[in-house]
Amino acid sequence: MRDPKTLRSYAWFHGDQYEHLARRAWLRSEGFGQETLANKPVIGICNSWSELNNCNVHLRQVAEAVKRGVWAAGGVPLEFPTISLGELFMKPTTMLFRNLMAMDVEESITANPIDGVVLLAGCDKTTPAQLMGAASADLPAIMVTGGPMLAGRWRNEQLGSGTDGRRLFQEFRAGRIGEEQWAEVEGCIARSHGHCTVMGTASTMAAMSEALGLQLTGGAAIPAVDARRYALAEASGRRIVDMIWEDLRPSKILTREAFENAVRTDMAIGGSTNAVVHLLALARRCGVALTLDDFDRLSRETPFITNVKPSGEHLMEEFYYSGGLPPVMKELLPLLHGDALTVSGKTLAQNLAETEAASTDMVRPLADPLHPEGGTAILYGNLAPDGAVIKQTAASPHLWRHRGKAVVFENRTEMLARIDDPALEVDKDSVLVLKNAGPHGGPGFPEWGHLPIPKKLLQEGVKDMVRISDARMSGTSFGCDVLHVSPEAAIGGPLGAVESGDEIELDIPGRKLTLHVDDAEIERRLAARPAHKPHYRRGYGKLFLDTVTQAHHGCDFDFLHAEEE
Ligand code: FES
Repeated sequence: MRDPKTLRSYAWFHGDQYEHLARRAWLRSEGFGQETLANKPVIGICNSWSELNNCNVHLRQVAEAVKRGVWAAGGVPLEFPTISLGELFMKPTTMLFRNLMAMDVEESITANPIDGVVLLAGCDKTTPAQLMGAASADLPAIMVTGGPMLAGRWRNEQLGSGTDGRRLFQEFRAGRIGEEQWAEVEGCIARSHGHCTVMGTASTMAAMSEALGLQLTGGAAIPAVDARRYALAEASGRRIVDMIWEDLRPSKILTREAFENAVRTDMAIGGSTNAVVHLLALARRCGVALTLDDFDRLSRETPFITNVKPSGEHLMEEFYYSGGLPPVMKELLPLLHGDALTVSGKTLAQNLAETEAASTDMVRPLADPLHPEGGTAILYGNLAPDGAVIKQTAASPHLWRHRGKAVVFENRTEMLARIDDPALEVDKDSVLVLKNAGPHGGPGFPEWGHLPIPKKLLQEGVKDMVRISDARMSGTSFGCDVLHVSPEAAIGGPLGAVESGDEIELDIPGRKLTLHVDDAEIERRLAARPAHKPHYRRGYGKLFLDTVTQAHHGCDFDFLHAEEE
């Protein structure tokens, strides 16, 4: 137990200078009594609430529950806002601003009289941004994510946001769904606040916060509107106060073992490919030398066992009723570092001691998985010397080994203009290639990697094709999409050399991505390409372009990394 005089906030409020009196007085101007504040730890509640972020719009109510817990445990809660990143609203992409939010979180924590922090996140980028900022600040921190929306429902059909929305959009484009039906879908696919209802990026990153040990056990999957989410928030408010007295900081929790636990869990749940970028970035904040090779090694050893869309059948709401993440991690425990410390003050194995198995329809035994390997595979080859990522469990099996002729789009504008052109030379065996959609090319590494299937092929009944880009894709998408090709085309990566008609070979089991063009010709084409024109010459955009790392390093700013282990 720490002496209250060692609290960080104590130095702000106690001393013989005028500023100490002024700080106490200004805090009391919020209506706190002198005795209420005396010698108590100050808990920052870092809130990404915003009406520009529908997924996080309930986090003010969640914060009230956190405050109840903090007061009950003897702390003083002070809620503060940061920027928020609404996935569907922000242009050109929220990923452009993840690092900005992480800096906002870090600086808001470190510049203020805060002893520990409760992180309230939900939508895709808000969770990794808060984790990255809190890891760099390294004060006691606990995360409470916002939980998934209620399952969508249309004419007695359950709809997963994103996954089923995109599937129905293909039907709409093919003319099999009319305008009126499409308007009905709009009204019932997102039925409450909370994040997307499948194992997309938000659900995955919530699970990652739990698997890393930074969220209380069982917290990730509780639906946003369920009373138990508020009870979780209250418990987290109580717990952060104890964490301060125990001086339990992220640096004691976010170890290499914790990251390996998270990667294995990501593989077992068929998590979003975006988790790869975010975990790589977070690890670098913590000085842990996590690499794409770690993902592939752990993926080969970890079966996919969680039957949730887009790789499985169910939605997050049912996943929670079946027990949520703990039964998955209990099943995985023989493969995990059970002695990893968590925010509860106990080890992962201790947290899971009383967890019961879920139904085998929802969480399969390790011996009888949905897929023998993890959800994500890492590919290398002359087209991606520094790696590329594919969600193999979301790709149609007949495309796992595929060789076809490239149909190339230099950028997204060109792709959108040509993709439905009846004259486009494309068939079901073609490989669609999108360039200039990476961190520099997008700019900001947008989710453009799930290229639409050309309309004329949709009308023939084609449901999946091999698509390759230096972009990301939404975690809710389903398809044979090779993503995060690194280095990206805009900085001279070999993706820039591909021309329509070139043969490309994808071999997911062999982890290969090959452009069947000889090296000298690739070099000649790259040398002949005009230099990429930067999207920004000033402001935050320029800082981003000047310092962002490539996808295989997590796309953080290079000056925010910690020293590696
Ligand atoms: Fe926010 Fe999907 S749009 S989680």
